[in-house]
Amino acid sequence: MSRSNSFYECQSCGAQFPQYFGRCTNCGNWNSIIEIPSTKSREKRNQNLYQTANNSSKLRSESIEKLQEQPITRIRTGYQEFDRVLGDGLVPGSLVLVGGDPGIGKSTLLLQSATAIAQERSVLYVSAEESAQQVRLRWQRLTQKKCNLRLLAETNLDKVLEELQNLSPEVAIIDSIQALNDENISSATGSIAQVRECSSALQKIAKNQGISLILVGHVTKEGMLAGPKVLEHLVDAVLTFEGDRFASHRLLRAVKNRYGATHELGVFEMQGTGLKEVQNPSELFLNNESAPGVSTIVAYEGTRSLVVNLQALVNTTTYASPRRTATGININRLHQILAVLEKHIGLALSRYDCYIAVAGGLQVEEPAADLGIAAAILSSFKETQLPERTIFMGEVGLAGQLRPVTKIEQRLEEAERLGFERAIIPKNNTISRGESREINLELIEVKNISEAILNALG
Ligand code: TYD
Ligand code: MG
Repeated sequence: MSRSNSFYECQSCGAQFPQYFGRCTNCGNWNSIIEIPSTKSREKRNQNLYQTANNSSKLRSESIEKLQEQPITRIRTGYQEFDRVLGDGLVPGSLVLVGGDPGIGKSTLLLQSATAIAQERSVLYVSAEESAQQVRLRWQRLTQKKCNLRLLAETNLDKVLEELQNLSPEVAIIDSIQALNDENISSATGSIAQVRECSSALQKIAKNQGISLILVGHVTKEGMLAGPKVLEHLVDAVLTFEGDRFASHRLLRAVKNRYGATHELGVFEMQGTGLKEVQNPSELFLNNESAPGVSTIVAYEGTRSLVVNLQALVNTTTYASPRRTATGININRLHQILAVLEKHIGLALSRYDCYIAVAGGLQVEEPAADLGIAAAILSSFKETQLPERTIFMGEVGLAGQLRPVTKIEQRLEEAERLGFERAIIPKNNTISRGESREINLELIEVKNISEAILNALG
């Protein structure tokens, strides 16, 4: 393709250049310039814009009061967990991005869902990474149900668009967006310019024809979806599929969702026969053995509560400055809790290394886990087990006081369901029982961290 077809634009300041520069000469930012194809249609559209200005007889907007309500019938994906993360199923005509590390199981998840959806609807699976034979082999191994699933192994954007136009399926899956290639752009396949053009072309056709489009995206070395901002604005939902490569369970999470709650979590398990959903995930993250340094909390993910084990190891340091490592928890949160324990309980933690981890590879970001972290650290420090069947909840303030946590009713219910007997919770954490039933847990309400520790370890 000749280079004169495109121009280059800075993504920070919008300055345009006839050639590529590593650094924008206008705003000085590095690596912010990307290639933009300047097609004839673009120019024509701009001309039309000027011609039709001030022509009020051509108004296309409508009064919001007069708009008809259209009921949405969501498309079931065959997995309740996937439906939950999407916000009760796939919305027709929506654009969903599923991102994740290579080899985590995105293709497997989508191929299985595609087969389930294709029981009743027409589905197109575009494989830009694997050959049709490879996909067919996998499909044969996973399911062999009769279904209306069509397969296209193609990397050329124009050919994919043409197929979408001609077939007009209800659902289309593009695996993956980084492997598609627009011939009008000279940038390499997978570059930001390519990803941006391919996705916006796909978005247009999907919106026009009412196709629900699922795009697969790879995560780059820096842990970002390639072309993250570009894609995030374009799509209706961004889901990430993550998990420990060495463990079998996988977590599907909604980072952005125009049609449902964000931070909703779906749990799957990779088995020899494909991905199976896990409907009782608390049991996956909960290990009933108790040992010094283990505490139990209830994390709230999306619209569901999960009972999770925390593990801490506190050991005399041999380094000049002690080591602090946190897996699944924000390291700054750990530092803050260590400082509170040192100041208000009088533990000389500055002479100890401290490691903390959430069991099962889960990320717990909410402050409600603070008290559980503090209890685990203390338990490891004192080499004493925490009382059995007890959960810890509460945000620890810098003055050592405990702050209320949200959604306490749901958390307590989940703990009770899993056979817990006692909960240490912040004082004046209002529990609105409302219409829900009584909670059969012994509730120990404490004002500050020293009271909590006194109750837990005596
Ligand atoms: P895949 O879906 O190809 O990952 P992605 O598309 O995210 O790159 O998943 C590949 C991994 O999943 C591979 O390492 C093998 C494993 N796997 C199973 O364990 N069981 C199965 O039934 C399948 C299909 C894959
Ligand atoms: Mg794949």
